[in-house]
Amino acid sequence: MTHPSSTVASHTDWSAAIRPRARIGHTIEVHESIGSTNDRARELLADAGGDGGVVLAEAQTAGRGRRGRSWVSPEGLNLTLSVAVVPALQATHAWQLGLATALATLEACARAAPDAGLGLKWPNDVVARGGRKIAGLLLETVMSGDRMTGAVLGIGINANWRPEDMPTEFATRAASLASLAGADVDRVALLDRLLDALDTEVMAVEAGHSPLARYRRACLTIGQEVSVDTTAGLVHGRAVDVDAGGSLLLDGPGGRVALSTGEVVSVRPETPA
Ligand code: BTN
Repeated sequence: MTHPSSTVASHTDWSAAIRPRARIGHTIEVHESIGSTNDRARELLADAGGDGGVVLAEAQTAGRGRRGRSWVSPEGLNLTLSVAVVPALQATHAWQLGLATALATLEACARAAPDAGLGLKWPNDVVARGGRKIAGLLLETVMSGDRMTGAVLGIGINANWRPEDMPTEFATRAASLASLAGADVDRVALLDRLLDALDTEVMAVEAGHSPLARYRRACLTIGQEVSVDTTAGLVHGRAVDVDAGGSLLLDGPGGRVALSTGEVVSVRPETPA
């Protein structure tokens, strides 16, 4: 069901992606324009039946990215949404929800561009072979003691944004599914697959099945020489693994370090053995 009145429909009919009998996507609230879908999804967390509700926008006026950045996306071309989840999860397992959301986003994107060699850049970007960013995730959580009482899974996917229309600063490091697939992507089908994959992934985490092994296989960062921007500054080294808590393990000049947060800002070509 699309949300009434204040949420004005886009020109796209999103109703085919509603999943009335499923948990994730039983309602899809469509906004022509909103500040941030994450903020609206956070409000849904307080509503009865808010669990699994989706907020989708054709445009955001204050879209947020990770680490205080803004998220820029042209109106009506991409997929910009947030999912409200009231997870049955301990706070110590919160990181698994991030990995699971990344895997679901990757699966949906890979169906749209199967030959693009898509994978994950730690912690949760979907990137093309060569590293151009296709999708980003912003997860916001609400904790109460040792329980996670709410989560907002914010997802932005570059679907039909043409590289020639991207601002110069993005064009060198971003791509879209359409540019990789060579044809426009059906955004409703993309949303449908994403919600289906999220439903499976979220419930698997709640049932105690860690996504870590599958995440490691999908993570293109592992094995690369990287620089990671952290709150303590840039850290350089070879990414060797993601540990049992979701941290990136780097072998650097000072030995092995585990990074729980950060942004991989550069990847250096493999040095010959
Ligand atoms: C990143 O890569 O920095 C994360 C980007 C997350 C963007 C999405 S778009 C939908 C949702 N609403 C927001 O304000 N941000 C997320």
